[in-house]
Amino acid sequence: MIRRRAESNGTCKRTARKIAASVGLPPALVPFIVRVFAGMESLGSSPRVIASLLDKHATQRALAHSSRPGPPPAPRRSRQRPLRVLDLACGKGDLAISLARRFAWRVLAIDACTLFIDHANKRAARLGVHSLCEFRAADITRAMRPRRGILARVPAFDIAMMIGLWGVEQAAPLLSRLVRPGGLYIIDDAFAINDRVARNLNAATLTDAQQLVRANGDDVLHAALLPLRSVRSANARILARLSRNARTLARERPPLRPTLAEFLKRQRTASRMLERDLRPGLILARRA
Ligand SMILES: C[S@@+](CC[C@H](N)C(=O)[O-])C[C@H]1O[C@@H](n2cnc3c(N)ncnc32)[C@H](O)[C@@H]1O
Repeated sequence: MIRRRAESNGTCKRTARKIAASVGLPPALVPFIVRVFAGMESLGSSPRVIASLLDKHATQRALAHSSRPGPPPAPRRSRQRPLRVLDLACGKGDLAISLARRFAWRVLAIDACTLFIDHANKRAARLGVHSLCEFRAADITRAMRPRRGILARVPAFDIAMMIGLWGVEQAAPLLSRLVRPGGLYIIDDAFAINDRVARNLNAATLTDAQQLVRANGDDVLHAALLPLRSVRSANARILARLSRNARTLARERPPLRPTLAEFLKRQRTASRMLERDLRPGLILARRA
């Protein structure tokens, strides 16, 4: 089958549509995605917050002994093997790079967007962690294919993450399958703030999401929504940055003006939703 390419970046149309939907971008802007999100290394929850959570729960001691009886030994982080981490839908790779720099963990990071993967590779090299971070351009569903997918033959990971792509219902069983028993997984999603909103929008609340994880047989170690004031300040910062980027791009490429305006409108609507009916949140779970 001949795939039609989305402009010159080698991404097939179906993948371009998935990438576009995941970041609220009209598909015509996918070839300009790095320009649109310039100056924003991370598009989901803060890597600093996630790294601190993982540091607290994913010490070698906790992971190594989660499935063994007896008291845990004193932690000797420097002499133990680095943890192996998987970041699905890694975007520009900021979280992978942060974990490599902070803990010297080894991260396999996958994203469908080749332009983001190029950016991540260059940044990891600049920051001296390219030997710890492997960035691969792939669609997650293809990466999971039984024989030829990137993830088909890899050993189970210590930690798997999906920050800002699929909801818990879809992400939790996948991540749980990819980590070893006792391994951790973390999901960032937007949750309905109450049952009424959940019914109206057909979205899960944080409580629903925790029940889904437990129904899989796994333990929830942490579940929290971002406080409203943090959502507001992040939204204001993001919208200001996106507007600036859109203005610069529109000056250089006037035909893109209406599409960029449409993009900013969508972003404002999404921001309002996150300040009213939905709220970003994180769930950290341990595979039983
Ligand atoms: C909201 S961004 C989050 C990126 C990153 N996790 C972060 O926090 O900055 C969603 C990402 O999912 C990627 N994506 C969308 N669909 C995908 C798929 N089917 N397979 C792999 N990556 C995908 C997009 O390219 C985008 O980088």
